[in-house]
Amino acid sequence: MAILDVADIHTYYGEAYVLQGLSLTLEEGQILGLLGRNGVGKTTLVNSIVGFNPPRRGRILFKGADITHIPSFETVRSGMGLVPQGRRVFPTLSSEENLLVAERSVERHGWNLQRVYALFPRLEERRYQRARTLSGGEQQMLAIGRALMTNPDCLIMDEPSEGLAPIIIQGLWEAIEKLKQQGLSILLVEQNAQLALKLVDYVHVMSKGQVVYSGRPQELAANEQIKSSFLGI
Ligand SMILES: Nc1ncnc2c1ncn2[C@@H]1O[C@H](COP(=O)(O)OP(=O)(O)OP(=O)(O)O)[C@@H](O)[C@H]1O
Ligand SMILES: [Mg+2]
Repeated sequence: MAILDVADIHTYYGEAYVLQGLSLTLEEGQILGLLGRNGVGKTTLVNSIVGFNPPRRGRILFKGADITHIPSFETVRSGMGLVPQGRRVFPTLSSEENLLVAERSVERHGWNLQRVYALFPRLEERRYQRARTLSGGEQQMLAIGRALMTNPDCLIMDEPSEGLAPIIIQGLWEAIEKLKQQGLSILLVEQNAQLALKLVDYVHVMSKGQVVYSGRPQELAANEQIKSSFLGI
């Protein structure tokens, strides 16, 4: 069953026409990868789904309900967790305060401080440290932990590997794999195709505001033409 269904959306910034008829479907319990180079509209898609910049045309269904023109706070309340590009943690709050401000609907999936700390023990060690003084990797863990504290049914992660060292990314990837095993549905937006392909069940490649390729990760890995034309590898 589809948990998130984006159907033929057209999104603008003023007169700039960015998403030009984009469709995608995230199946429940899966990780869908969305790949594409800088500026193809990946974050614009995230903004459209979450309600920061709704599409002018098209429809977005989440758990069967139409969320196309729902305010973002209501979309989050209904179970959409966002891990934004660039982490966006609250810099002057402590690590733990960043988690606590997001806490809600614990009865839904049972995410609380304890469980976030079990997933990311490093965050417990750093619980009283101001978020702006955390390392990039720790801030990324915190951004994921904060989204989990909202007890989401679906997590959207916008370039979680950006700017991080391979060893840190490996730990993050293991954590994301665990989240999938716990039944969370995940839309993983990445520019780094090699990394994303290790994790995803299905993948879409974007170019100029449209999906130009869809397939299983092994199929994309073997498709040199798509990789060189749209992913620069
Ligand atoms: N707030 C905005 N106002 C006007 N144009 C914008 C705005 N945000 C993004 N754009 C434009 O929309 C296009 C898509 O940008 P977007 O941020 O969605 O790309 P992206 O695929 O997420 O890129 P990256 O991999 O660098 O994060 C770009 O041409 C960008 O300049
Ligand atoms: Mg982006």
